[in-house]
Amino acid sequence: MVDSVVWDIGYLVSAALFIIGIKRLSSPKTAPQGNRLGAYGMLLAVLVTLVKMYTEGIIGFELIAAGLVLGTIIGYIMATTVEMTEMPELVALFNGFGGGASALVGLSEILKRLQEGDIPDAGVELYATWIAIGLSGIVGWVTLTGSLMAMGKLRGGFYIPLTKKDDRGRRKWVSFPTWGPPWLNFVKGVILIGCVSLIGLTIQEPENYDYIYSGGADMPVVVSLLNSMSGIAAAFTGFVIGNNVLIIAGSMVGAAGLILTFIMCKAMNRTLTAVLFKSFGGSARESVSRTKVGSDPEEVAMVCDGISKCVIIPGYGMAVSQAQHAVKEFADLLESQGVEVSYGIHPVAGRMPGHMNVLLAEASVPYEQLIEMDDINSELPETDVALVIGANDTINPVARTDEGPLGGMPIIDADKARVVVIIKRSLSVGYAGVDNDLFYDDKTMMLFGDGKKMMNELNSSIKEL
Ligand code: TAP
Repeated sequence: MVDSVVWDIGYLVSAALFIIGIKRLSSPKTAPQGNRLGAYGMLLAVLVTLVKMYTEGIIGFELIAAGLVLGTIIGYIMATTVEMTEMPELVALFNGFGGGASALVGLSEILKRLQEGDIPDAGVELYATWIAIGLSGIVGWVTLTGSLMAMGKLRGGFYIPLTKKDDRGRRKWVSFPTWGPPWLNFVKGVILIGCVSLIGLTIQEPENYDYIYSGGADMPVVVSLLNSMSGIAAAFTGFVIGNNVLIIAGSMVGAAGLILTFIMCKAMNRTLTAVLFKSFGGSARESVSRTKVGSDPEEVAMVCDGISKCVIIPGYGMAVSQAQHAVKEFADLLESQGVEVSYGIHPVAGRMPGHMNVLLAEASVPYEQLIEMDDINSELPETDVALVIGANDTINPVARTDEGPLGGMPIIDADKARVVVIIKRSLSVGYAGVDNDLFYDDKTMMLFGDGKKMMNELNSSIKEL
């Protein structure tokens, strides 16, 4: 029998790799290395756990091999086939699986203990065990069901299977409501009280099997909070099964997810309560009745000729059209003419944290040209051209008022530039469903069309000048 110190050392090394990995993730330059270190840490933790269980005779080799092969194949297929624009949904799904796995481990632990009669006597140990199992179950199931709802919310709704397809081959679409009915919060409260009461009942009467199959909730919360919750669920599970690395990794995911949640709440100017209990965007569609004559790439190319400063402001539409390489080419063309080019990055541009940074890094845009919102805002009044590609809410001046879903959200001051060029397919609204006055401003040139196509045409026009 291998000494338990060996396993502890393995877990310690993997925990150290997680910590160094997270530290390295704090800068775009070192982030890929941080990512790799975190993955190695997780691989080590999984291997140590499996070898430990194998040597202790808990599981056979066949099960380990089957789990590894199946998990690797499914993970590889999902990671390689996912569209960049669907990444947030995939992250939400993975978070959900993490929470579901924690809840299942908690459930299996409680069943095992009941079967073996391994129930601690009344007192601290009983409470600690049952509360840890109960919380791992609640947090785990909330994470799973909430992540599935979040996936739907990110898409703005869901297709109903088996309904008749329309001429574009799509089934019936059901949108999520913008604001949930008031009684829904009451239901959520009742579910929460119910879950806590079930834990209490289980502590009082551990042998009663009837309680443990209940529980769960479907609160639609944002992905990063769910990410945090999947970590917290994992940490509780770590306490339940006495696994140190699960406690450490779970706590780190929990803390990192919470910090990110608050950063995102601040960037969207929404309280955590509003995020948790109110639906936002996705389906809200303010009808747009005004019109605006579009410009053409030749006209925009002429405006860009001879300027000295250009700020590119990317948004979700750049991700959809995969225009990042064409955007980089545009920047290179301007720089070759002596224009100073930088990128204004809003913290919630796109659909996931760091969405724009990832895409622009893929197109080899230098990190130092990616400027955060507050810093770029001080430069925009001295900017000749602000080129907005597929961004809408994050540059909507209505956010400076207190009205509507965007009220109070900090924005990138694209409207302060001398000329604003906006590339998008129509005058339609963004994620928050709010019309944007900047489209109709005299200084704004609308370039209607797919982001990548328009950028390529603009680049060709610049080359022809
Ligand atoms: P949005 O306000 O969502 O606007 C994106 C615009 O891109 C749309 O108005 C759309 O207009 C255009 N677009 C779509 N496909 C396009 C294509 N192929 N080519 C060109 N344009 C295209 O984007 P944003 O400014 O990046 O703001 C992000 C929003 O998402 C915020 O409200 C934020 O709160 C929310 N959100 C962010 C996150 C994170 S963490 N980033 C997560 C969830 C929600 P057309 O249809 O007219 O083309």
